[in-house]
This record gives sequence, structure tokens and C-alpha cells, in this order.
Amino acid sequence: MIGLFDSGLGGLTVLARIREQMPAADLVFFADQAHVPYGDRTHGELLQLLRANLDRFEQYGVDAIVMACNTSCAIAERYGWPASRVPILDLIESAAMAVERGGFARVGVVATAATVGAGSYGRTLRARVGGIDVVEVPAPALVPLVEAGALLGDEPRAAVEEVCAHLPLDLDAVVYGCTHYPMLDSHFRAVLGNDVALVDPALMQAQRAELLLGTRAQGAGRTEYVTSGDEVAFRASLARVGILVPASR
Ligand code: DGL
Repeated sequence: MIGLFDSGLGGLTVLARIREQMPAADLVFFADQAHVPYGDRTHGELLQLLRANLDRFEQYGVDAIVMACNTSCAIAERYGWPASRVPILDLIESAAMAVERGGFARVGVVATAATVGAGSYGRTLRARVGGIDVVEVPAPALVPLVEAGALLGDEPRAAVEEVCAHLPLDLDAVVYGCTHYPMLDSHFRAVLGNDVALVDPALMQAQRAELLLGTRAQGAGRTEYVTSGDEVAFRASLARVGILVPASR
């Protein structure tokens, strides 16, 4: 069984890619909605939450953890990964591999305030891609919109416009440095136009997960969804994005 966690619904964008890549894997997805948004928290709090989430998965008995939260990865990159008995697949490393594969030289990263504050994306990208230019822009307004289900219409469009106004005009690519943001992809595409590539690290993350785990992850293709927040609201959010979970589990 593979464990994935995020502060909330954003991790579903990684879960979807894993499911495409590994149809038979058994997955458990934990949304730490009691503490969302992570991006506005202190680094100390985030380190504690990361430790708690890794402990939780240890208790579940997972075979591996596929990270679905950039903010947690950013904190781990900055302060060191807490000890874990199972392998952990880092999402920021996957982002850097995707940027390298794309051959991009001038890259914008939109991410949470905590991720940008940690500087982890810049360090990881520069370590992998020599001579790359990286501009990191925080987007604290976007996670609350996604959590509230406000994916369509003027409000998310205006919020994405506001974020993109801080990006330079001559970028090759913009990386979704938070797993919530691919849910606003149509707005980013509309605002940035077609000349800028949009990089979702989840694709590379899923390819790496399959390489790392391969047949070890073979199961019955089950997915379990757990939240630390409001169960009923969580189930309603899952239904909104097309995931139906029986209430009687
Ligand atoms: N989706 C998470 C990430 O990738 C965290 C968003 C948040 O809770 O601020 O960083």
C-alpha cells in the first residue's frame, strides 16, 4: 500500500496521476484538513505536521510514501527529512526532473508562502539544471479557493491573474509548486497564454513512483480516503471532483 498526504484536496491531483500510472496499486490518501492551509504556517509547525503525517502512515503500515504536498517537501529540503522506515518520494525533486526533461532555462514557480520562504525550489532546480533562472512567487489566495470548491468563474480567474502579474513575461515554463494549483489549470492557461509551458510535477512523480515501486505496489486498485477535518464536507468535495466514497466505510 502506498500512502499519499496533503493539507487538503490538492493532493488529489497527485493521486489521480498515480492511479493512471499504477491502476492496481492500493492507495491511502490522507488530507490534513484540520490544518489547511499549510502554506500560511510557520516552518516549525510544518515540521511537526510532517512528522505526525509520517508517523500516521507508519501506523497504517504503508510500503512507501509518495509525497503529494510541496510545502512539506520544501520544509524537509530545508531542515532535513524526519526518519522514516519506508521510502519517501520527494515531489520537488520530481519537479526538478520534469524541468530538466523539458529543457527549460527560465522558470517561474508558483507555490505557497511557506514553500517560497524556504527557498527549496530554487535550490533544488539550480542543483539539477545548471545555469537555470528561477523566480518563485507566492500565491496564498489560491488554496482557500480550491478548498472551497471555487474552481470556475471570476473569483479564481482574478486570483490567478493577480499571481501571474508577479511573474516575469519572458519565462519558458511555470511550475505548479503546490498540488492545489493544477485544479486551476484552465485559468493559468488563459492568463499566461500558449507560449509558456505549464509543468505539473505530479506526472513525473507518478512515473518515478512506478519505477521505484513497480510490482511491489500491485494490489487490488483500492483507494482509501481519510481526512482530519470534517468528514461530510470532505466526502462532498470528493463527489464534486467525481470521486464517490460510500459513507459506510
Ligand atoms: N497542496 C500543498 C502543497 O503542495 C499545500 C497547500 C496548503 O495547504 O497551503 O504545497
